[in-house]
Amino acid sequence: MRDSCAVILAAGDGKRMKSRQPKVLCELLFKPMLFWVTDAVKDAGIDKICTVVSDDGRVAQRLPEDAARAVQEERLGTGHAVSCAAGYIEEAAENVLVLCGDAPLISSELIKESGRLHQETGAAVTVIAALAEDPSGYGRVVCEGGEVKRITEHKDADEKTREIHLINTGAYWFGRGFLLSALKELSREGNAAGEYYLTDTVEEAVRRGLKVSCYTAENWRETLGANSRGELAELSETARDMVISRLRAKGVDIPAKDGVMISPDAEIGCDTQILPGCIIKGKTVIGEGCVIGPNTLIEDCRIGSGCTVNSSQMYSSETGDNVRIGPFSQLRPGCIVGSDVKIGDFVELKASKVGDNTSLAHLTYLGDTDIGPGCNVGCGVVTANYDGTNKYRTKIGKDVFIGCNTNLIAPVEVEDGAYIAAGSTVKNNVPEHALSIPETKQRNVAGWALKRGLYGGRKK
Ligand code: UD1
Ligand code: CA
Repeated sequence: MRDSCAVILAAGDGKRMKSRQPKVLCELLFKPMLFWVTDAVKDAGIDKICTVVSDDGRVAQRLPEDAARAVQEERLGTGHAVSCAAGYIEEAAENVLVLCGDAPLISSELIKESGRLHQETGAAVTVIAALAEDPSGYGRVVCEGGEVKRITEHKDADEKTREIHLINTGAYWFGRGFLLSALKELSREGNAAGEYYLTDTVEEAVRRGLKVSCYTAENWRETLGANSRGELAELSETARDMVISRLRAKGVDIPAKDGVMISPDAEIGCDTQILPGCIIKGKTVIGEGCVIGPNTLIEDCRIGSGCTVNSSQMYSSETGDNVRIGPFSQLRPGCIVGSDVKIGDFVELKASKVGDNTSLAHLTYLGDTDIGPGCNVGCGVVTANYDGTNKYRTKIGKDVFIGCNTNLIAPVEVEDGAYIAAGSTVKNNVPEHALSIPETKQRNVAGWALKRGLYGGRKK
């Protein structure tokens, strides 16, 4: 959008949400509502964005360091909130988009199309409206003879006005000059809330004989706001459907939506199947032809193509192609797994690197470990990476065979092609192609239990 900027209102505390955090930080599919709005604005090609925040710093500290912000010290209403950004608006651009941080599903298309109408009609203000099934709680857009006359808040509306289904979504385009002068005319008197209403600028434009346009959103659901937990859950359902539909349109196979929640920022390749009970958070990228789930949680990961992740959890990690994970395994943050790797059941990896074609088939913990390609790690292998004070790394080369029930006491290195016998406790480095066997020989004390009259741990 040419010569445009956006002001996002995010200073309200949202008492109706009953949260310890500000309303705009309440999450929809694991992403704060405010950042849905910010991303839609950016996607519409507007990069000058000022967020109006309260002075307690809770929203401000979540913004990127270089993001513009205006502080509203007292909650005196939406009109007052925009006034707090007047200095920014003056410098920024001719066309000013104002949005609420608590109406997260607005699309970049809606922003662009309404902006086009605003510029074409040369309006002082363009209201983004919607025809809501249930308009209660919203400001109503009052028209006479096809022209917008004013916006009346639900609280201030009479019976007849409350019958209007055309609602104010809380998003508008303004001409800069008009906005800055109209804000100065706002008054707190004469409304039920005793606030400076931004919506009163519409009547002000009419009074001055200026053009007021109205852009009615096609999909009213995308314009809804959330003031309470119930409304947030409804939006969450809408958002979930939007994300799932978009992914299906790109060839992702989601046969049932049951318990499937996917972040709007996730990217998933075609022919990947997402089974019930999968939660995919953050900026996760999944390749093509994978099977994810059932009952899997993945956060901020990159997963290659042809992988399966069954009933497992993965955080801030990445894998190559054709990796099999699960059931019941966990990749904690910082794992880099190659291709054709098998991570079977009850395996936990933390901050570890696993080479191609390596197999960790069952009951294994590798922490702070680099293991090369072509290795076979037997059942019950554990790295002891922590001595109670410090963490140490374990280094395992390529083509290493580690027998079942082995403990590797870090820091320790097992070189290429080495073999470790089952039941070893490896404290010293193992050179390449060597066999390491447990240093203590097993001693059997003949008749020991019999002498004590013990049978299976009990006395007979
Ligand atoms: C507002 C509109 C209403 C519209 C609705 C759409 C007004 C007077 N009313 O009502 O017509 O239908 O949005 O959702 O504008 N905020 C501040 N500072 C303040 C007050 C609010 O930053 O002093 C922020 C809030 O954080 C929120 C946004 O402005 O993100 C809207 O405020 P809210 O109190 O939720 O307004 P509504 O009553 O929903
Ligand atoms: Ca609201």
